Amino acid sequence: MKIAILGAGNVGMALANGWAKAGHSIILGLKDPQNEKTSSLLKENITAKTTAEASAEADVILISLPVSATVSVLKEIGNVKEKIIIDATNSVFGKPDPYNNCFEAVKDITKCEKVVKCFNSTGFENMSDPVYGNLRLDMFAAGSSEEAKKIAVKLSEDLGFENCYDFGGDDKVDLLEQFAMSWINLAIVQKHGRDIAFKVLKR
Ligand SMILES: NC(=O)c1ccc[n+]([C@@H]2O[C@H](COP(=O)([O-])OP(=O)(O)OC[C@H]3O[C@@H](n4cnc5c(N)ncnc54)[C@H](OP(=O)(O)O)[C@@H]3O)[C@@H](O)[C@H]2O)c1
Repeated sequence: MKIAILGAGNVGMALANGWAKAGHSIILGLKDPQNEKTSSLLKENITAKTTAEASAEADVILISLPVSATVSVLKEIGNVKEKIIIDATNSVFGKPDPYNNCFEAVKDITKCEKVVKCFNSTGFENMSDPVYGNLRLDMFAAGSSEEAKKIAVKLSEDLGFENCYDFGGDDKVDLLEQFAMSWINLAIVQKHGRDIAFKVLKR
């Protein structure tokens, strides 16, 4: 797949590197692709363009921007109505005014219906390496577009996650952000450290 990554920081680069390794074609969407630091991000299957160019070229757009930058970036990337958009942000420490979360902002600003919340519920280290001993971690995806969720499942498998659980429709997006907040609470607030993760067990 051709995947634009808007927000090439901790999460964006963990996903970019994993997907590039799996053979996807990654286009980082940067503020200033000509910046001298850009070359350190590039490798086989990873190129860099502006946020608008990357979005136009890609089939799938992954948003891993700071919440505070998301609305303005969404307004500058042009027509992405027919793309698949994956929102990996968490509005748990601040809202993207006037929206409740970035998922709502994506749907309202782009009018895209194929939007899914995924890759938000665990730390970026777990996205780089979802293997704990002989267990592989699970991922979770919420949103009412089955087409977008199918892509999220495939991309989570390509990173090495075992299952990508269907968390429900658009009405479960807030809950998935609260689930992320539960990880943040345990890892950071309760000081268990960032090398912890959730796995669904069944019997
Ligand atoms: N950290 C985690 O473990 C984690 C896990 C799950 C979800 N999340 C969510 O994922 C999002 C990103 O978190 P992060 O930790 O990856 O943040 P981060 O390391 O600060 O990365 C954000 C990236 O966005 C770029 N950016 C900012 N404004 C931009 C703009 N206008 N155009 C293009 N790029 C822009 C930043 O570039 P500059 O540095 O040049 O400004 C930076 O590379 C957040 O919404 C967070 O809630 C984080």
